[in-house]
Order: sequence, then C-alpha cells, then structure tokens
Amino acid sequence: MPGFRRWVKSKFDKNPNGSCKLLAAVLVVSFYLMIKEFSGPAVRLSSTIPKYGANVQCTHWTNGWATADEEKADKVRDAMNYTFWKYRENAWGSDDILPVSGSGSSSRNGWGAFIVDSATTLVLMGLWDELALSVEHIIAVDFTKTDALVDPFETTIRYLGGLVSLVDLYDAGVIPNDVVARDARDAILQQAVTLANALGPAYDSPTRLPWPRVDFSQSKGVADSPAVSSQDSKYKNPVVGPARAGSSILENRVLTRLTGDSTYARNSTLAWAPLVWTKWLCKYPGTVDAPIDIVTGEPVGRQRHWDAGHDSFYEYLLKITLLAPPFDPYFSEYKEKFGLAAGSLREQYASRSASAPNHTMQHLFVARDDDDWFLNKQSHLACFAPGTLLLASKAYEDESLGLFALALLEGCRHTYESTPSKIGPEAWSWIPKFGYDYPIYSPETPREKAEWRTSGFWSTDARYKGRPEYVESLFYAHRITGEARFREWAWEAFTAMEQHCKAPYGYAQLADVYRVEPEQWSGAGEGRWIDMQESFWAAETLKYLWLTFSDANIASLDRWVFSTEGHPFRMIR
Ligand SMILES: *[C@@H]1O[C@H](CO)[C@@H](O)[C@H](O)[C@H]1NC(C)=O
Ligand SMILES: *[C@@H]1O[C@H](CO)[C@@H](O)[C@H](O)[C@H]1NC(C)=O
Ligand SMILES: *[C@@H]1O[C@H](CO)[C@@H](O)[C@H](O)[C@H]1NC(C)=O
Repeated sequence: MPGFRRWVKSKFDKNPNGSCKLLAAVLVVSFYLMIKEFSGPAVRLSSTIPKYGANVQCTHWTNGWATADEEKADKVRDAMNYTFWKYRENAWGSDDILPVSGSGSSSRNGWGAFIVDSATTLVLMGLWDELALSVEHIIAVDFTKTDALVDPFETTIRYLGGLVSLVDLYDAGVIPNDVVARDARDAILQQAVTLANALGPAYDSPTRLPWPRVDFSQSKGVADSPAVSSQDSKYKNPVVGPARAGSSILENRVLTRLTGDSTYARNSTLAWAPLVWTKWLCKYPGTVDAPIDIVTGEPVGRQRHWDAGHDSFYEYLLKITLLAPPFDPYFSEYKEKFGLAAGSLREQYASRSASAPNHTMQHLFVARDDDDWFLNKQSHLACFAPGTLLLASKAYEDESLGLFALALLEGCRHTYESTPSKIGPEAWSWIPKFGYDYPIYSPETPREKAEWRTSGFWSTDARYKGRPEYVESLFYAHRITGEARFREWAWEAFTAMEQHCKAPYGYAQLADVYRVEPEQWSGAGEGRWIDMQESFWAAETLKYLWLTFSDANIASLDRWVFSTEGHPFRMIR
C-alpha cells in the first residue's frame, strides 16, 4: 500500500490532467483490496483469540483519586435523572424536549433521538428503571419510516452508535439480565441492522463518499434540501466535509463484529478511503482540504483545520486504531496519517494569543486555515482535540503530544473561567502573538474590546449550546494523568451548568454566557435561555461529567473506545 500511494502521488504530480482516470484506478484498486479484506468467512471474525486492550489510563493514582467521588457523581446522576423524567413526562417519543416550554421537537426523523442517544448514559449510571423504559421504546420504533430526509452522519453517530453500544454493553455484562433480557438485546441489534441497511444508499455515490442525505421513501442518496445547502450552492455537485465522510467507521465496524456481515465495515471504510488515501496534494501533511465533491472526489474548497466539520475525521483516525489492534489491516496507515495530522495541528493551526492590556497571560488556541487565509478563531467543538491528543499521546507513547494537548486544554478552560457564568462561549477570537500584524479578526465593538482587554480573547458567538467537548477532554485528562485538578475543573463546569442551564423541563442552552444578571434577561426567559436541549447533553455532557467523578475502572479507557457521540465500544474483535 505505501508503494502504491507513492506511485499515485508521483503520477499525479506529473500529470494533473490524468486525475479522473487515476481516480477510477484508485477506486477500483481500493475497492478490490477492501472486498478482499472483508469478504472472508464470518467465522474468521470470532475465531481469533481476543487479544485486546490498551494501556492508556493512569497507573500511578495517588490519594484515592481513582475511586469515585460519590457525592459529586450522584449530583451529576441527579441531573441526568431530572433530564430523563422531564422528557418522559412531557415529550416521550419526540426527538427532544424544549426545556423552557416543555413541548417536544422532532427534527431528527421522529424516532426518539433523546431515548436512543441517552440510553448508554443510563446504563453507565445504573438508572435501570429508566433504561427499561427506553429499551421498550427502542425496540418498537420503525426505523424505516420517516417524513423527512435522513442525515446519515447525525443518524449514524446518534442512533446507530447508541444502538450498537447498548449491545456491546449488554455483551460485556454491564446491563443486568433482569433489566434487558437476551431477546431484547437481539431486538436492539436487529434495529441497528434495519437502520444501517436503510442508510445504505448514503454510500452509493461514484466515489463512495457519502451523500449528504438519504431519501428513505425512494432508498436513494440525495443532496441537502436547498434551504440547507444554499451556502454550498456554488458547487456543481453535492459536497461533503471530512467529519461527515469519516465518522461512521467505528459504529459500522462494531456492527460488522456483532453481525458477521462485512458490508458495514466495507462501506464505511470505502467512505473515508478517498480522504485517508487521498491523491490530491494537501498543503499540510495529514490534513484534508475540504469540502470535497462527492461525484469527482476533488476538494473544491481549501478549508483545513480540526474544528467544526473536520473534527471527528481526525478523532476516528486515532480511535479506529484502538478499537481492534493489531488486527486492523490499515493500522499503520491510520496511525501515520493521524500522526501527520496532529503534527500539522501543532505546527500550523495552534496559535498563541498575544497579551492584552489588562491580561498578560497568553493562551494556546486552535485556529483554522482557509486557502491562504489564517483564521484566528476557534469554536467550542475544537475543545475535543485536547482529549483526543492525550489519548494518542498515551496510546502511541508520545509525551510531547501530551504536553501540547494539556496546553490546548488550558486554553479551553480559560474561556470557561473568563465569563461571568463560568461557561465558555460557542466561538471566540484572539490576537495571535506571532506572525500576523493584521489578523483577519480584531475586536471591533466596545463589548469585544472590553472582553479582549480583560481576558485576551473575545467571544464571537456567546451562546452555550450544552456541548460536551470541554468536559469530554477533562474526562480524558483525569483518567490519563490521574491529576485531581481536572476533577475540580469539571466540578466548576458542572455547578455552573446546574446554576445557569437548569430550566423547568430540562437543561436549556444559554443565549449569552456573559449575561447572568436577571435584569439582563428580557421577557419570559428569552435573553437568558434558548429553548433547546440537544440529545448530546444527555449522551455526552452528563456522561463525561459523571465518568470523571466515578470509579476509574468504569468504562476504562484501556477497554473501551468512545465514539464521537460518547457511546462506548468494546476493544475486541
Ligand atoms: C429520578 O426521578 C424520579 C422522578 O422525579 C424519582 O421518582 C426517582 O426516585 C429518581 N431516581 C433517582 C435515582 O434519584
Ligand atoms: C453499501 O454500499 C452500496 C453501494 O456501493 C449500497 O448499495 C448498499 O446499500 C450499502 N449497504 C450498506 C448496508 O451500507
Ligand atoms: C487596564 O490597564 C490599563 C493600562 O494598560 C490601566 O490604566 C487600567 O486601570 C486597567 N484597568 C483595569 C480594570 O484593570
């Protein structure tokens, strides 16, 4: 394979016009290799001696920090119980509850996204009555029926991931038999198969890159609806970003393991193959240029970064190597690609902030690149990077990567610490210390200037959407370093969420993390809250918080890989 790749690259360098033919050749060859790889008899999957696991978690815990802080863990569990019961009593069966008004919202095809996405959190917390109610619903859903177009990315990470993770947790003995019976486990797996098969047309594009949507009524991959795709309408064909193309391999690999059917692993591997084995020259090693035309496979944009829309591709490059080593046929390719991408993040996108008039400390943030422009902004989503890099630093024994990760984590923490609510904003900017006399973004309004003067960054989107990435990275940091400070930071974040987000019917998003005084809230809570609670609040934010305070042997990182939606999968094949 490496030799093959070199050939592809040099051929492309000399003969850019041959790219279409070349693309066809690449596809044919990779298709053949993968068919060959995955078409062995199913029995091969289970006859291998299960040698698995990683040495990721801290092995030198002191002061009992590996044992649970029961009191704090229970407080987080209470928040989950509250979230569950408000939804159960007011919006059961809807995709999500609107936490301020109490009505239901069904923007995820109406299959009960909250129920499917939050079930693995109920399992880990041992909320068994609540889990039994959820499983009853999950088994009864008709995943083939929906009025709306289906988003294969969201559906895979929230629904399919939640289903196969439940089966894995059952098989590992985490769920008692009197809560979920064997035939209920089989029915959940059958639901996962039904859903994955219905998503199949997503993979039916000329390049195998996934379609943006699937029309279930016609079993067909389609473009986004015009309203959604207006920003992409300048492109001739549908386009896809790295995260959408590259975040289905964990879920589908697990489904192949559970069923013995190689189709799922094969399709999801082919879906990201054009990114992993790209034949296009990329500006920075390991980093994909996006968006990408799903018909030609050509990058039609020059965006490159680890932030929204790109993030989980890099996350899955690492995690797929942890899921089933050393059996993965492409283990070393994925590992190398991740290493290069992490190096580019460090060299190209990591950006230290300059001192501000009233804030001399400098912080490390994650910037972006768009063609020749260096964009000095980061979003909350990119706070997943410290956790993923820490995981890599332990798994691949790269100490300096760990130090880099912790510096990024402190940058994220700084955004939380600096606001009156003690919760970080959705997006922010800073003046880079090095290299740019005239950065793209500078503080303009009096408010931006004031925020920048006193904290060294200013919010460009001051909402908090219930997102998990910061506390997710704290969870990894606690489990990997064994240091108590990460539990403290997690507790600060949780108490702030409890204080500011808790609403009559759940946990609301914040309209402005800088606005905590009641006189700043107009009307019936608008101005304070956004009437929205995404399922990742229960699937991820509360799960990672709870795991940070619970016993470190629960869902150990030496035995489990968490999906980008927080669903744990067993490291086994
Ligand atoms: C969860 O909340 C319900 C309803 O308020 C309550 O009856 C139940 O005791 C709670 N469970 C736990 C474990 O706190
Ligand atoms: C696999 O991909 C093919 C297209 O190559 C598609 O027709 C099929 O439905 C997909 N199946 C699944 C289960 O994803
Ligand atoms: C901010 O710094 C300036 C000098 O750079 C100083 O005059 C001013 O008092 C400081 N303001 C605060 C709130 O510390």
